[in-house]
Amino acid sequence: MSAILPGVSPSMMCADPLHLYDDVIALEKGGVQFFHYDIMDGAFVPNFTLGPDLIKAVRKVSKVPADIHMMVQSPEKHLHLFDLQKGDVVSVHQESTIHLQRTLAAIKDTGALSCVALNPATPLCMLEDVLDDIDMVLIMTVNPGFAGQKLVPSTLNKIFRLRKWLDETGHENVRIEADGNVSFENAVKMRAAGADLFVAGTSAVFRAGGIGENLKKLSVCIQ
Ligand code: DX5
Ligand code: ZN
Repeated sequence: MSAILPGVSPSMMCADPLHLYDDVIALEKGGVQFFHYDIMDGAFVPNFTLGPDLIKAVRKVSKVPADIHMMVQSPEKHLHLFDLQKGDVVSVHQESTIHLQRTLAAIKDTGALSCVALNPATPLCMLEDVLDDIDMVLIMTVNPGFAGQKLVPSTLNKIFRLRKWLDETGHENVRIEADGNVSFENAVKMRAAGADLFVAGTSAVFRAGGIGENLKKLSVCIQ
């Protein structure tokens, strides 16, 4: 198991848009490591969600860094819109760009951390020639685009194989983020498999019980 401190990156598309400020303050108080912003273009995934202006607004009231998940075609064309800061992380899908290595280098040039996201059906070997260019891998544990979906079971073993491969190839510091249906029960399994950052949406944080209490429960599950 990697020595990385596990953490939560709540899925802001699941926050209450009519009380977003309250949710941001509650999440920050609850000790989240990032705010996870799902950016969707209706082409790479059949949905639209958040945009750069929302991230800009949140940055005015919170120092929590941005974990920007680009579910868009050719993400390299849009990075400049996000005013990336040191400490942010940007995930681009391997399936979404012809020039993955160049895009990862462009992310790092901004001072942000670089991450490759893989859909459930995309094999780990697609990462083979960019392991030295990444700080994190985002494993989609559902098919991307919508909250409230069910875990794709095979992705647990995928996380396990990825952690083993990273540790065996001298990439112990590369983080693994699990994104999708991170329920209390699934978080335990994802952590045991080797994930260390958890995108929590309607399954664990934005649900009955309140953000503070749910974050406390989830943090126990991911130790
Ligand atoms: C899926 C999104 C996630 C997540 C939402 O495309 O990237 O943010 O699934 O949270 P859940 O799955 O818990 O509703
Ligand atoms: Zn996401």
